[in-house]
Amino acid sequence: MRLRNRTAMVTGAGQGIGQAIALALARHGARVALCDINAQRLDMVLAEIQSIGGCALTCPMDVTSKEQIQQVVQQVLSLWGAIDILVNNAGIYEVLPFEEITEAQWDRMLSVNLKGAFLCCQAVVPHMKQRGSGTIINIASSAGKTGATLAGAHYSVSKAGVICLTKQLARELGPYGITVNAVAPGRIDTPMIHTVPEDQNEMFRQRTPLGRLGTPEDVANAVVFLASDEASFITGEILDVNGGLLID
Ligand SMILES: NC(=O)c1ccc[n+]([C@@H]2O[C@H](COP(=O)([O-])OP(=O)(O)OC[C@H]3O[C@@H](n4cnc5c(N)ncnc54)[C@H](O)[C@@H]3O)[C@@H](O)[C@H]2O)c1
Repeated sequence: MRLRNRTAMVTGAGQGIGQAIALALARHGARVALCDINAQRLDMVLAEIQSIGGCALTCPMDVTSKEQIQQVVQQVLSLWGAIDILVNNAGIYEVLPFEEITEAQWDRMLSVNLKGAFLCCQAVVPHMKQRGSGTIINIASSAGKTGATLAGAHYSVSKAGVICLTKQLARELGPYGITVNAVAPGRIDTPMIHTVPEDQNEMFRQRTPLGRLGTPEDVANAVVFLASDEASFITGEILDVNGGLLID
């Protein structure tokens, strides 16, 4: 119970990595605001958390909407009085050759993956500053460090943006007692990667020194660590969780 009495807000909590993060935070004692554009999935995650004796709240919202985010932040603050942990995890993914990415696809990708994190941080930071504490954890990707081997340029660029946002905010918010870090997953077995043919995922498996794809729990464990007191002197870090797929 490393996070007892903490309050967390997790975006993209409806499935995959976000679901595992929400469950892990709840298992460690945090109250978790479950945020996702898919309200039905949130009800299932809420039931799962309640079944292990955890505490959570469903907050359907679109991370591209400043208004919806602010409503959720106000709701969480009036119910629980604090947001100690923000996890920006919501994201979309697309495999497309560079010349085929339309302007609308580019804008949508940047809007969900990068602007979503920006808006959530902006909504929560004034509150964290006021309290003089808080931790923000962004879910980036190894694609944001090297360029993607499979995903489109709009995806890898959005994740590079998430990495730089993490470093910038770590500098700006450190003096207010707020840490900002990112986790950069390699290939993780979630519904997101099932949108591509299996042989493509097999290619990642073969190139990973540890010989397997990651699990959502592998990423969630790293997030729990970064959210815990044990990580209180870590900020601006991009933590790889990739089985050795990328070693830099
Ligand atoms: N799976 C991987 O291999 C992998 C690797 C590196 C990084 N990531 C990153 O991890 C994060 C989670 O990925 P995943 O594999 O669990 O994906 P996923 O598709 O399984 O889950 C993403 C969740 O985000 C939600 N979401 C999408 N758009 C949203 C919006 N506008 N507002 C609110 N919620 C929205 C979806 O409804 C879904 O529940 C993403 O940021 C992704 O880029 C995943």
